[in-house]
Amino acid sequence: MGFQFTTMTLNLLLLMAMVATNILSLYHLTTTTLHSPKSPNNPPHVPDQLLHQLHTIRATINHLTRLHPNTPTTHSTKPNIPQDLSLYSHLSPIPSSCHSHPDLLHRYMSYTPFSLCPSDQDIAESLILRGCHPLPRRRCFSKTPQKPLHSLPINNPFPSLSSLQETLILWDRYTCKSFNCLNRQNPSLGFDFEVEASKFDKYKSELDLPVNQLMQIARSAKSVIRLGIDIGGGTGSFAAAMRRFNATVVTTTMNVVAPYNEAVAVRGLVPLHVPLQQRLPVFDGVVDLVRCGRAVNRWIPVTVLEFLLFDVDRVLRGGGYLWLDHFFSKGADLEKVFAPLIGKLGYKKVKWATANKTDAGGVKNGEVFLTALLQKPLSR
Ligand SMILES: *[C@@H]1O[C@H](CO)[C@@H](O)[C@H](O)[C@H]1NC(C)=O
Ligand SMILES: *[C@@H]1O[C@H](CO)[C@@H](O)[C@H](O)[C@H]1NC(C)=O
Repeated sequence: MGFQFTTMTLNLLLLMAMVATNILSLYHLTTTTLHSPKSPNNPPHVPDQLLHQLHTIRATINHLTRLHPNTPTTHSTKPNIPQDLSLYSHLSPIPSSCHSHPDLLHRYMSYTPFSLCPSDQDIAESLILRGCHPLPRRRCFSKTPQKPLHSLPINNPFPSLSSLQETLILWDRYTCKSFNCLNRQNPSLGFDFEVEASKFDKYKSELDLPVNQLMQIARSAKSVIRLGIDIGGGTGSFAAAMRRFNATVVTTTMNVVAPYNEAVAVRGLVPLHVPLQQRLPVFDGVVDLVRCGRAVNRWIPVTVLEFLLFDVDRVLRGGGYLWLDHFFSKGADLEKVFAPLIGKLGYKKVKWATANKTDAGGVKNGEVFLTALLQKPLSR
């Protein structure tokens, strides 16, 4: 009886979430189809794409309804809907992408309230990467690393590894159990902070933009850079380099294969655990600079990238800078797809440099790098 009720409630919530998503899609589609809304009172034409989407949504609801049968099958190991999950659905709407992964969501929310959380960071990470963000909150205690014996480095975002204690980080999820091990595996991951110190200083090719040059460009444009966001910023080396110029940069980073968030924090910098498809958690027009590192590249679906760029535009102040640092794509796509996409922002090209990507993958796929520094118009 209770179970039946919760299933119905969940489905209802799901339906509401879907409808909300739909209204958003409709809005998006109408704004893109009706390019110049001269007569906003005309009823919008409903594109096939939206009808298809509606069909998919109905199919998803049917699928989910089947996933939560009212009569449990014999020997079913599938847990009932965790109590906290149904409670949470009442308290705070869950993003619709969470509903697309009921199995993962069930596992994530199957925990014992008021005790130690399960070791399930991988499930959390998987959900977030699938767009289920923010994750539902839980009432359990997250496991905390052992208290450090030595104090953390103060005002030194480039600490030597020997000065850091590996016990600062919970390593159980990872094959490596130390920063040194990660460095040996792949020195370019960014876990040797001393090596990282010079990363944004050097000009080796026209694809580089050393931080002092960036600051110089801003100064000569009578613009200041005090606040920034580094999207997909790994271990936070850009934020670290910017700190030398008294600029505050927060770093969005995921814990894919390695403890990136903890590494940023160890350096005394702010890690934001948000995926690329997430709306940036800052208000409109408040930052001076957004950098997109190599995490932003041709692997991101073009529509997602378009939303990302427009969200970057949202958070940048007038005259703020967008720095695409080593964006890579296929050579033909850069001309046909990405340059026009970037052009939609209407930014001034302060720097625009391209070069062939010469590693094995780059040569195989005919890829090119783009490094662009773009300035948002002063006012819209
Ligand atoms: C950063 O701020 C400190 C303290 O106000 C100042 O001494 C230093 O010159 C500043 N550095 C830069 C690069 O502006
Ligand atoms: C870049 O690669 C293309 C082929 O993919 C080649 O035709 C072109 O000459 C290369 N450019 C440079 C500067 O090496």
